Amino acid sequence: MGIKKNIAILPGDGIGEEVMAQALRVLAEIEQRFGHTFTKVHALIGGAAWDTYRNHFPEETKKICAASDAILFGSIGGPIAEQHLEKWKGCETNSILALRKAFTFNANFRPARVYPALADICPLRSDIVAKGIDVLVLRELVGDLYFGEHKTGVRNGRRYASDVAEYDEDQIASVARRAFEASRPRRKKVTSIDKANVLDTGKLWREVVKEVAREYPDVTTEHMLVDNCAMQLIRRPSDFDVILCPNMFGDILSDEAAVFPGSLGLTPSASINAQGFGMYEPSGGSAPDIAGKGIANPIAQILSTAMLLRFSFSLHEEAARIEQAVEKALQAGLRTPDIAQPGARVLGTVEFTTELLRLI
Ligand code: IPM
Ligand code: MG
Repeated sequence: MGIKKNIAILPGDGIGEEVMAQALRVLAEIEQRFGHTFTKVHALIGGAAWDTYRNHFPEETKKICAASDAILFGSIGGPIAEQHLEKWKGCETNSILALRKAFTFNANFRPARVYPALADICPLRSDIVAKGIDVLVLRELVGDLYFGEHKTGVRNGRRYASDVAEYDEDQIASVARRAFEASRPRRKKVTSIDKANVLDTGKLWREVVKEVAREYPDVTTEHMLVDNCAMQLIRRPSDFDVILCPNMFGDILSDEAAVFPGSLGLTPSASINAQGFGMYEPSGGSAPDIAGKGIANPIAQILSTAMLLRFSFSLHEEAARIEQAVEKALQAGLRTPDIAQPGARVLGTVEFTTELLRLI
């Protein structure tokens, strides 16, 4: 029996539109093969929303998201050309942070692994890669320095700025539970990141994660200072499974982990709230330098779509079919320019997806 769901489609800026078009083709394929009906409602966000609404995250878009069962998001941000300054100023931070806050998407899943077919483009040494790299950065997304009070001013004739970092125990416990649960079908290991040797938020983070860990005796827990993690993640990445992070450290470490697959064009993500409502997006940006050229890698957007089907609609088989098709395409030597090795068959955004659809 097919299911019926509504998906809010927010392509955004830059390559967003092009890669989203490919994700829609994949969704259409899944609808056809499995008999589901996905009603897609498009909405504007980021720079793309500015011309119509003079707002990066308009009320209309928020309503469409609220009425949906899940949000599929492309990317936002554009070229900072003088004449467009007004349009792009703060566009990324305004719309993405507002969207996260509007739906309290507190848990952000950013998986990163090395695909065997792409081991050569991982910049780490081959003996390190050979041990296998498959991590999930689970980042708290609506607290910490990001959402504390921000101030800029002048004091005693000198300019100053301040950003407040704050966490309460419920915020920490909620994302920690997500991490332990996410580790169960994986390698059952959670590395919790903090700066407990300096920060009060870090001490509370560690204390609460230890308490939550007692509910998951089958999972191995370790605590690591963020600076040390930045180093160990490169030295011995195969020792990590789920990496649980406060917002700020998760922002940084998830970019570090995105180096493993070899291209930002391969890294999907999911942001989920306590009610299970979610938004799915590639971890990379809008790549204005290659936008409109038809060469952007659609894989991150397509894998984000697979995460949507799995997390929001519990369509596990459908999600797995998409993920396996991506693996098969890579094994078959199909490449977009960002991941092309010598001798590979290099395809554009649309052509790559056409091949992929055949493999689903
Ligand atoms: C990310 C981005 C955002 C963040 C920016 C664009 C506000 O870097 O999603 O990682 O810092 O969270
Ligand atoms: Mg970031």
